[in-house]
Amino acid sequence: MPRIAYVNGRYLPAPDALVSIEDRGYQFADGVYEVCEVRGGAIIDERRHIERLRRSLDELRIPLPVAQAALAVIMRETIRRNRVRNGIVYVQMTRGVARRDFAFPPPGTLPSIVVTARSLDLSGSEKKARHGIAVVTVPESRWARPDIKSISLLPNVLAKQAARDRGAGEAWFVDREGRVTEGASSNAWIVTRDGRVVTRPADNGILRGITRTVLIGVIKAQNLLFEERPFTVEEAYSAREAFVTAASQIVMPVVRIDDRPIGDGLPGPVAKALRESFHGHAEWS
Ligand code: PDD
Repeated sequence: MPRIAYVNGRYLPAPDALVSIEDRGYQFADGVYEVCEVRGGAIIDERRHIERLRRSLDELRIPLPVAQAALAVIMRETIRRNRVRNGIVYVQMTRGVARRDFAFPPPGTLPSIVVTARSLDLSGSEKKARHGIAVVTVPESRWARPDIKSISLLPNVLAKQAARDRGAGEAWFVDREGRVTEGASSNAWIVTRDGRVVTRPADNGILRGITRTVLIGVIKAQNLLFEERPFTVEEAYSAREAFVTAASQIVMPVVRIDDRPIGDGLPGPVAKALRESFHGHAEWS
């Protein structure tokens, strides 16, 4: 069965699902995206993801090209046509197709939409979570607005490749003060020696992860000690646990940072418990 993608009004086999070379996503990375988890055929935290998509579009002054209800239908239809039970659905919107010019295209230029869906192996990701992943740190090199979920991801691409080159699964960006901002495609967390769960405040410097938002609710419901504050790489090295969060990974334990074992070098109990509780707190639709 060929993969099916939705492109500007049509469902097409992936090889025929093409956008113009003058699409501003292709020319300037002038667009935004969202990734939602699909679980048991349902979309996880769709409402929050769509809210964030609308915010990213507003920040870049790109109009939402379809009604929100129509977008929900397109996402479901793409999931259905690809027979995805467990996996992800990807939504990308760009400022549309226009002759190459840095400033915005003429009014009336229709933004482009691409929606794809693909299956992920649940047992594979459970196995990964049982072992945990390694992280490497890299200097923060992104623009000042990572809170916008822009498709302009070159620093993230290079960071992820640096991680892969060193046998790690994720890279953490570190600012000039030595504080961890977030992962190349995830939010960063530690559990301190005295049991406090810590993550950086979601200002303009990081993406306000939906998994992060939902997980803060889980942490509060479980009466864990929670601190929303920056933490340094040094503090992370000596933490009892570390983990990352993203829609595609939920809660993924981190067992090594820059080749130093975290805690006893195995996934920690807090990360494990949070991973198990997450879906009970998320919205299914
Ligand atoms: N990435 N920070 C960055 C830089 C991200 O790219 C992501 C998600 C997150 C976590 O956000 P959320 O919990 O809403 O998924 C944080 C997605 C999964 C991706 O680009 O594939």
